[in-house]
Amino acid sequence: MNHRPRVVVTRQLPDVVEARLAELFDAQLNTGDIPLPSSALGHALRHADGLVVTVTDRLDAEALDVGPDGAGIVANFGVGYNHIDVAAATANGIVVTNTPGVLTDDTADLAIMLMLMAGRRAGEGERHVRSGAWTGWRPTHMMGTRLTGATLGIVGMGRIGRAVAQRARAGFGMRVVFWQPNPADLGGLDATPCESLDELIAVSDIVSIHCPATPQTRHLIDARALALMRPRAILVNTARGDVVDETALAAALRAGRLAGAGLDVYEHEPGIHPELLDLENVVLLPHLGSATLQSRVAMGMRAIDNLVAFFAGKEPPDRVT
Ligand code: DGY
Repeated sequence: MNHRPRVVVTRQLPDVVEARLAELFDAQLNTGDIPLPSSALGHALRHADGLVVTVTDRLDAEALDVGPDGAGIVANFGVGYNHIDVAAATANGIVVTNTPGVLTDDTADLAIMLMLMAGRRAGEGERHVRSGAWTGWRPTHMMGTRLTGATLGIVGMGRIGRAVAQRARAGFGMRVVFWQPNPADLGGLDATPCESLDELIAVSDIVSIHCPATPQTRHLIDARALALMRPRAILVNTARGDVVDETALAAALRAGRLAGAGLDVYEHEPGIHPELLDLENVVLLPHLGSATLQSRVAMGMRAIDNLVAFFAGKEPPDRVT
């Protein structure tokens, strides 16, 4: 390529990342941070050499049907890429990359935070104080659930699942069980595999989701799975909203079947099931798993590494296709 590659960046990124993109490429930045309509995304896919996209961009088969003169690479800013039809990208000769590894610790920290918040009723307590309704300390006021010594069930023992397990063991003396077909080497982590999701659910005081969103994991946690959870258990989801049937979860929370839930991701972001918004026993965060400056800069630099390798004719380090 004898011109600077044209790269369209669909959302505003940390300053240092945007500066590097502008240095290396003929970069079209999105300083207004307005999500690109599908027509603009389609135009970028047809006319740019590469794109930096993220979870708010939907790249379906129709959008990716760009022919031989379209973009060669879609560098996803994020580890999860269920918003991209990877098979369609491959069929159109488009390389897709992601940003694994750099957001693991921050996402694991947030999962532990949601366990604590749901277990100790932190959101509810804060709303109570701010509303002016708090009348002072009482022995039976807002009693929650102890994390220390509880059994944590991890669904999906990839990088983030393992980082959560390590924190739960070291910080809270939790017993950790997990469900993951063909798990990677756990490197001495003290965690017990379960034969099935049902087995994991039946023995866990807290169930934490860390699997990717795929057709197979859609509504993995449905009404049936929720009914199998221990009475007064807690569900945490920092992975993808599609994994949990939100209607069924709202019903289980409303019925008091579960003690609480901590959610960072939703089925129809930024929409949230209206019943969840009404419930006190669910903590709702706005998809903050990787939202530290450190992670977001590292994610941007990782996306750049993938673009640089691709435009140099090399294999991008984080190719998912
Ligand atoms: C990720 O990296 O997958 C985050 O959820 C943002 O997309």
